[in-house]
Amino acid sequence: MCGIIAYIGDKKASPILVDGLKKLEYRGYDSWGLATVDSGKINFVKSVGRIGQNLEMTNLVGTIGMGHTRWATHGGVTDQNAHPHLDCEGKIAVIHNGIIENFAKLKEQLINEGHKFRSETDTEVLSHLIEKYYEGNLKEAVRRALLCVDGTYGIVVISSKEPDRIVAARHGSPLVVGVGEGENYFASDATALMPYTKKVVFIEENEIVEITKDGFYTITIDDKKVDSKIHEIDWEADLAEKKGFNHFMLKEIFEQPKIMENAFAGRIIPSEGIAHLGGLNLTTEELLKVKRIIFIACGTALHAGLVGKYMIEECASIPCEAECASELRYKRILLDKDTLVFVISQSGETADTIAAMREIQRKGIKVLGISNVVGSTIARETDGGVFVHAGPEIGVASTKAFLAQITVLAILALEFGRVRNLSFMEGKEIASEIKKIPEKIKKILEQNDKIKNLAEKYRDYKNFLYLGRRFNYPLALEGALKMKEISYVHAEGYSAGEMKHGAIAMIDEKFPCVFVAPKDSVYDKTISNMQEIKARSGKIIAVTTEDNYEIEKYVDDVIYIPETLEMLEPLLTVIPIQLLAYHMAEIKGLDVDKPRNLAKSVTVE
Ligand code: AGP
Repeated sequence: MCGIIAYIGDKKASPILVDGLKKLEYRGYDSWGLATVDSGKINFVKSVGRIGQNLEMTNLVGTIGMGHTRWATHGGVTDQNAHPHLDCEGKIAVIHNGIIENFAKLKEQLINEGHKFRSETDTEVLSHLIEKYYEGNLKEAVRRALLCVDGTYGIVVISSKEPDRIVAARHGSPLVVGVGEGENYFASDATALMPYTKKVVFIEENEIVEITKDGFYTITIDDKKVDSKIHEIDWEADLAEKKGFNHFMLKEIFEQPKIMENAFAGRIIPSEGIAHLGGLNLTTEELLKVKRIIFIACGTALHAGLVGKYMIEECASIPCEAECASELRYKRILLDKDTLVFVISQSGETADTIAAMREIQRKGIKVLGISNVVGSTIARETDGGVFVHAGPEIGVASTKAFLAQITVLAILALEFGRVRNLSFMEGKEIASEIKKIPEKIKKILEQNDKIKNLAEKYRDYKNFLYLGRRFNYPLALEGALKMKEISYVHAEGYSAGEMKHGAIAMIDEKFPCVFVAPKDSVYDKTISNMQEIKARSGKIIAVTTEDNYEIEKYVDDVIYIPETLEMLEPLLTVIPIQLLAYHMAEIKGLDVDKPRNLAKSVTVE
């Protein structure tokens, strides 16, 4: 979604703003803009396209300023619709992330009161509302303007009338304060603040914050003072750099052995065959009371939830569902007190997932979070939860966070299973095998060049069908999503067994299939599906267990993975499907880390 950065201090603002926006590019955008205050006036520049394309435009004077990258919601992708948006006098500038639901009514009212609009955006109503309510105090004018607004916002406001402060406010779209020495910042997430400061304040819902060079001051939308807490961010700046890889996505795929170790560190005890996720704040008797589990998420995180469903049903015999957040939030939700709900989210800011979480909490049901960003809305609003410790994930297509999510879900399945019917020996086997997976992932990563050649061989195909059964059915869905979202090639994920009930009609020599088919309990059934595909001249790429050479008579190409327990197969089968999608996009010269139309965190409906 939109990226926001702001600075007030003694340094020239524009280089800091450009650097911050570049660190936020991974969120996805189609236009950008900067504004500074200097010598009693607002200087601003805004343009469609990438901020790197015309850096000379960004050389604005002034030591107070703000920057924005826009992911269009209301109004086309044009220079005029890019942020910032100014009031009639050109003395107040606003940048915004979110959606003003009642902007049309507000716009009509303001036009009737004589305000002149320049853009098609919802955001511009904010600059004119603040102008309307300005009576010498910018923070108060912002507060009164926002009381008129329905919708979501993370906004930052500067004014040539008060050149020594910046005001920001949050309702639904995240914002943080960066606390420096004699300088302060706002940003849509802490990534943009590296390497300037590691001290951040997470702005809570319905809070308004004013920063000067020397400090910050927080109130609520109801004008009550708030004592905000300063947090120290613990990651190192270099984590967010590419470290010699062509793209963040490839770096993050190769980080996965280490990321998985971080995700299970201190959470499994192989000698006892048990697991413990402290952040869930669940006693053994509370674990035993759980009669149903629902995972709620979007996109790749939803696929992780589907893997979690299979793992927990296998280990603990607890009925589980994985629900798409954008569907669940609007349907009649059938829950009871023995239902445990998890929201899964890498960013912790996905609007649909947050809305579903709040809807369920309104019914008095406990919601736990599985997220990756400390201080994110989901991390702060859930009734407990687990961080997956994947570190900053910059590539828009989620890879290492997904692996960390399914690692945590395997640990959760073990924890639930061992307070139920899973035996000591079974628990020991699972816990020991989890610890072996990182080395097995490294073995698969050694096939990177082979998978790149495979992508080259299949580069001209326009469609793919991904197929899998049981634990690998969600991986068929995830493989198809990865292929679609970074190489723009149509791909569909399907249950291998279900394929013959219709989808097979599409198969011919131009429509290859990717089978996620380790040698497991459903392998023989999947071989039958391969034969059905072959009988229609369909080409097949198979991901299967090493030494399973007999498969070669059924398929065209094979990627071998090490053997593991059936329930842990997703931790290995995901690697080849990530690499296949990555290389397909890379050889096509596409923007792998920032695919078109996508955002890293979808903070609007
Ligand atoms: C992942 O590859 C996608 N970019 C997208 O589907 C993502 O998984 C989804 O938007 C959910 O994001 P979250 O995990 O941050 O909530």
